[in-house]
Amino acid sequence: MRVHMGLMRLLPRPNLRSHTTTEETSLQRVIVFANQKGGVAKTTTTLNLGVAFKELGHRVLVIDLDPQGNLTMSQGMNPDAIERSMFDVLVHRLPITEIIHTAEVDVAVSSIDLAGAELALSAMIGRERALEKSLLEIRDSYDFIMIDTPPSLGLLTINAFVAATGVIVPVQCEYLSLRGLVQLENTLAMVRENLNPDVKIEGILPTMFDARTLHAREAIEILEENFGELVYKTRIRKTVRYAEAPVKGSSILKYDPTGTAADAYRDLAKEVLHGAKSREHA
Ligand SMILES: Nc1ncnc2c1ncn2[C@@H]1O[C@H](COP(=O)(O)OP(=O)(O)OP(=O)(O)O)[C@@H](O)[C@H]1O
Ligand SMILES: [Mg+2]
Repeated sequence: MRVHMGLMRLLPRPNLRSHTTTEETSLQRVIVFANQKGGVAKTTTTLNLGVAFKELGHRVLVIDLDPQGNLTMSQGMNPDAIERSMFDVLVHRLPITEIIHTAEVDVAVSSIDLAGAELALSAMIGRERALEKSLLEIRDSYDFIMIDTPPSLGLLTINAFVAATGVIVPVQCEYLSLRGLVQLENTLAMVRENLNPDVKIEGILPTMFDARTLHAREAIEILEENFGELVYKTRIRKTVRYAEAPVKGSSILKYDPTGTAADAYRDLAKEVLHGAKSREHA
């Protein structure tokens, strides 16, 4: 652990989740799942937390903002066969309602075209606000809008940060990257300064946790030392179940409804909601 000490001092301590007002909590929440490191369970968390919120009676839209289209695929759709996608929404201002498909939850789909969106957007005025604008028309239709982002801090992810009310950062316990978290927080600080003063990390989610290894337990300790209460108490354990479900085009909650893997995301849903609840009485 000592090897990380130098890095720890670099890490800013984000605000604790404690000062949101009542008015804010009653409004729609736009939660972005981001980590520029690949394969940390952004997509898995976007879908399964979304389905868990829906089970609790909330109206949920998930947005696939990743040209890889994994979220779209994980609900049984083929991004290569999709004609109109988030690309058209961002670049051609197509109403987002036109590309929402109904699956376990509503899904705003991605296609391979989206890979060209950063370049197309970069020449446009208001390029960082394209997503935020597109969400205005569905303001009253959803309680939760959950956005899956690609493993980069490029213009697509920045668009998500600008539209967000909060960011959840999944981190893989096996390969904890503190430098990556510093870089992510620095990007968020720039977005706060210039584009969306309210955006912040609302939680850090340890994923692929294997309680049997010292390494994984140390990773959690390091996270808690640096980020305190921002680290969710829910641990997403490592199990092959999470990889099996998307192949069947379903969430883990549908694929294995009574399993512990599904329950982990139900627990997370309660924890994310409970944070908001306790703030209401603060
Ligand atoms: N808790 C877990 N235990 C084991 N495997 C998992 C777990 N969560 C996700 N996976 C698997 O790990 C892989 C990466 O997960 P996922 O696609 O959600 O990550 P990601 O952060 O979205 O990746 P990318 O950066 O490429 O978009 C997938 O095959 C997924 O099924
Ligand atoms: Mg992904």
